[in-house]
Amino acid sequence: MAWRQTFSRLCVLLAAILAVSVAQKSPQFVYSQSNKIMLSWDDVWEVGVSNKLAFLNKDKRLIIRINVGGDTGNSSGTKVLVYRCTESSPPEEVALSSVQSQSNYCPGTMPFTISKVSGKEGIDFYFTLLDSMQTYDNVFSQKIQLYIRVEFPVGTITSNSLFVYNLDAISKSPSSSSNDAIIDSFYKRFLTVPAINFMIQMNTTADPFSYVPFIDQQIVDRIRSAPDFIKAKINIGAILQFDAGDCQNFQSHLVSMFVNYYSKMNENNINLLKHIGLSLDDGRLYYSKYGLTTAISNFFRDRGSPKEIGICTLVSFAGHSQPYFKVDEVKQRISTTIVNYKQMGSRTTECSIVGSGTARSVSIFAGMDYTPLVCPIICDDPNQVFRFYHGNQQIVSNGQSEWTYVQGLKISRTGNVIEFPAELFENDSGEYRCEAGGKSFKFDVKIVSMPQFLTRLHDSDSKIVSGDLPQVVFAIENETLSYNCTVYYTNMDQVDVIPAFHTIGTADQKWKKLDLDQFNQMFSSSVSTVRQSTLKTNETKTLNLTISRVPVSDYSTYLNFTHRFVCDASVSPADAQKVGLPSYNIQSSSNVIFLKRPTILSFNRTSAKPCSEQKCSNKVGGTFEVSLSPDMTRRLAASGVKVFAYFKIDNELLENIHTIHGQDISVSKFYPETNRLLFKILPNAKKEVISILQKYKYLTPVFNFGYKDSSGTKLTNLNLHKERYGQPIVSFGDRDCRADSTCFYSTDFDSADLLADLSIRLGFDWISDEQPAAGLASASAGLIAGITLAALIVLIAIILLVLLLRRDSGQTYLVDEKERQQGNHPELEVKEEHFKEYQPAEEAPMRAERMSLNSYSGVSIKSQDDRELDVYKDDMGDMGDFTEDGSFIGEYSAKKKKQDNSAN
Ligand SMILES: *[C@@H]1O[C@H](CO)[C@@H](O)[C@H](O)[C@H]1NC(C)=O
Ligand SMILES: *[C@@H]1O[C@H](CO)[C@@H](O)[C@H](O)[C@H]1NC(C)=O
Ligand SMILES: *[C@@H]1O[C@H](CO)[C@@H](O)[C@H](O)[C@H]1NC(C)=O
Ligand SMILES: *[C@@H]1O[C@H](CO)[C@@H](O)[C@H](O)[C@H]1NC(C)=O
Ligand SMILES: *[C@@H]1O[C@H](CO)[C@@H](O)[C@H](O)[C@H]1NC(C)=O
Ligand SMILES: *[C@@H]1O[C@H](CO)[C@@H](O)[C@H](O)[C@H]1NC(C)=O
Ligand SMILES: *[C@@H]1O[C@H](CO)[C@@H](O)[C@H](O)[C@H]1NC(C)=O
Ligand SMILES: *[C@@H]1O[C@H](CO)[C@@H](O)[C@H](O)[C@H]1NC(C)=O
Repeated sequence: MAWRQTFSRLCVLLAAILAVSVAQKSPQFVYSQSNKIMLSWDDVWEVGVSNKLAFLNKDKRLIIRINVGGDTGNSSGTKVLVYRCTESSPPEEVALSSVQSQSNYCPGTMPFTISKVSGKEGIDFYFTLLDSMQTYDNVFSQKIQLYIRVEFPVGTITSNSLFVYNLDAISKSPSSSSNDAIIDSFYKRFLTVPAINFMIQMNTTADPFSYVPFIDQQIVDRIRSAPDFIKAKINIGAILQFDAGDCQNFQSHLVSMFVNYYSKMNENNINLLKHIGLSLDDGRLYYSKYGLTTAISNFFRDRGSPKEIGICTLVSFAGHSQPYFKVDEVKQRISTTIVNYKQMGSRTTECSIVGSGTARSVSIFAGMDYTPLVCPIICDDPNQVFRFYHGNQQIVSNGQSEWTYVQGLKISRTGNVIEFPAELFENDSGEYRCEAGGKSFKFDVKIVSMPQFLTRLHDSDSKIVSGDLPQVVFAIENETLSYNCTVYYTNMDQVDVIPAFHTIGTADQKWKKLDLDQFNQMFSSSVSTVRQSTLKTNETKTLNLTISRVPVSDYSTYLNFTHRFVCDASVSPADAQKVGLPSYNIQSSSNVIFLKRPTILSFNRTSAKPCSEQKCSNKVGGTFEVSLSPDMTRRLAASGVKVFAYFKIDNELLENIHTIHGQDISVSKFYPETNRLLFKILPNAKKEVISILQKYKYLTPVFNFGYKDSSGTKLTNLNLHKERYGQPIVSFGDRDCRADSTCFYSTDFDSADLLADLSIRLGFDWISDEQPAAGLASASAGLIAGITLAALIVLIAIILLVLLLRRDSGQTYLVDEKERQQGNHPELEVKEEHFKEYQPAEEAPMRAERMSLNSYSGVSIKSQDDRELDVYKDDMGDMGDFTEDGSFIGEYSAKKKKQDNSAN
């Protein structure tokens, strides 16, 4: 009856849940984490990542990849590209579903096109730059901002931004004129007239070390005011070709490069940097007369003294993958009749420092591909040895390979260049020094890393440390839990980590963003509060969130604790500007999924009847089956909860009681698909099995709820406060939820109150083979059998008595007489015996049944009510001591004997 009621209530509950079946996870961008700040052409911008930079030139493109996860319903969303042509221009929009590849956006500044990548289902788009309309004077400040907005019926999500620079306008600086008609017919780009003259006729002064103004002053000024990382990474200068080939297809080993640096330089050109130094501080090309003229004249001769030469300009960013690269022609075919490359000066061991010689402060940015340090010492002798030091530690090339990796850094075989990788650590900071020919130059290197949630700490070389939030947090009603996120950074003035709550908490069923106070107001209650605290060091910041008592969701008010929690880290505008971004944001987020705490209604206990009801015995065995309700099972599965269940027998693990397990003895199984837990003692159990079972009172199913991924990555930074449920039972091992780090809830936590009824009262009876009928008899049948048996015995006794009296009546009399004299009253006793024999029949049938089944112990008497049980036990006195083979009558007489003994 009770179950039917329970079942109908479950059905009502199920209907209610189906009616309010909303998505559990808010829509969100899916992307892979990377600490990369700068994208190269053809790179993929995975929408949703932290703000990124790209430096592109004409015709180069990026792939925009929009991947959305979470529950977006049937809708794939309306994807909109929002862009701003300059920082001051208003945002404009393009619907990506109807994008026309022939349309130009930002036509006045940095025109670009957007097109679908064919074959991709609206996930990937090309962003391609066209010819820039910019002028050189704002190339380092003007950029396009792009971000993606995706609109769903349940809400709108907006990505972080990508900022795209185009440096092509550097080559459009106004040409200065000369008195030379030939030179005036060349493109100057950003080169000075003396620079072009110098490249054609390497006439030098009398001094062994000298310079020519090389880069146009206007460009030098722009670079000087550009963000730090641009100064650290930009490569600029001229290329001299000795075969008049195409500037676009130059090969590093076939040309001489007059640049400050270029990542794809061959070793000859790296060696050339020992004789020349192009300073971006003043735009001058410093050189050693003997060293430079020897190198160039040898190269000219080695190239077969060609009839024509070519001059090109180069602008690039240092890096493995050439984040930006542009080569333009100055003049492709210059007759060698006007050139002059010959050795000048004489070989000395002299070296000189480019520029002022004072230490240079350099900021090296993590996530920026490779960033070089080029030794600004120039020497005469091509065999001059260059050395690099970090502090007192020399960075030594192995002399074999062109580049040697030393603790993540690279040093060239030539010894005058080192490169910093994208992944940098605070201890890469400090003083770097290069030495050659008795000269020494210092760099004060400051490593700058933007905040990120994943990092690798230097002292644990390969281990990635995660400051990410757990991907999913199961918040079960009334539980306390806390989690945190940590950002790692270096040399940031100000980092903020702000919590944001995305929740569906209103009738319109749209995801909304709330701050901590607003979120707490939603669940205004003195017990359920979400508190934040932050912990800061000079290199980390942690946001710690504690939910004390997960509040109960309420269908009627749409109040729902299921939410998406986001740690939004940002830096001050000054810090962002260091990497050329107006702002920098990075997020870590977690789906916090509310789960109802199980109540007794969450279980199907149809086949979990106490032994008193199912009459457990060695003959029929016993079946104990408990399952989570189909609704609970469905909800847990939909949320990704792992359910694991086992039986406890009193305070031991059932599976540890070995005697009662075995193929012919019992079935013990958990079915994860249905969350059904079964223990079954098979019929015809052996004596030892029953006697073991008789030692225990209760069989209790324990259902543990856990996180699926045991690898631990999901569980980082999540603290489930399970200590309030006491210490784990050691013998249970990981089965005990308190000891299992992936387990967040166990029905065992509630077994004292809310789920006390889950325990099943045991009470196995032993039915000996001599009395097969009794074992299977129902209560009344047993009773009748008992009475019949008693009556039969009385009848036999009477017959025997009559026979005896007939044989010797005097003796009988004497006995009777004797007994009377001793104070005994046989007639009375016979009456009394009759009364006692029939008394059980007048009592509850259960007691009669018990008495007819001869092998129970006082411990296993079953009753719904313990108080009733105790009264009953008192009634029965020490009947627990009855021997197993004693019959009803035997028991009774045994009891009587004992009572008589104690009376005497
Ligand atoms: C809470 O919201 C989630 C996701 O929207 C939904 O799956 C769940 O059924 C809701 N629960 C309640 C109690 O409203
Ligand atoms: C979702 O799509 C299915 C099948 O494509 C359709 O039967 C259902 O009506 C749609 N539901 C909504 C809310 O659009
Ligand atoms: C370079 O020197 C040559 C002769 O050595 C001379 O003809 C030429 O005018 C000089 N050019 C410059 C730019 O000084
Ligand atoms: C950060 O603090 C640690 C220890 O307090 C110190 O060793 C380190 O130099 C500091 N780093 C910076 C960049 O201030
Ligand atoms: C985070 O909160 C938990 C629970 O209140 C606390 O034990 C822990 O120390 C806190 N951590 C920080 C970094 O504040
Ligand atoms: C949760 O806690 C509240 C307040 O103590 C209590 O009223 C409620 O019954 C609890 N719910 C469950 C499922 O334990
Ligand atoms: C409850 O479990 C029994 C088996 O023990 C099964 O027959 C019955 O269908 C289950 N009831 C529900 C509502 O799942
Ligand atoms: C974040 O939470 C985890 C789990 O509670 C804890 O081990 C870790 O120390 C916390 N981190 C900080 C910085 O408090």
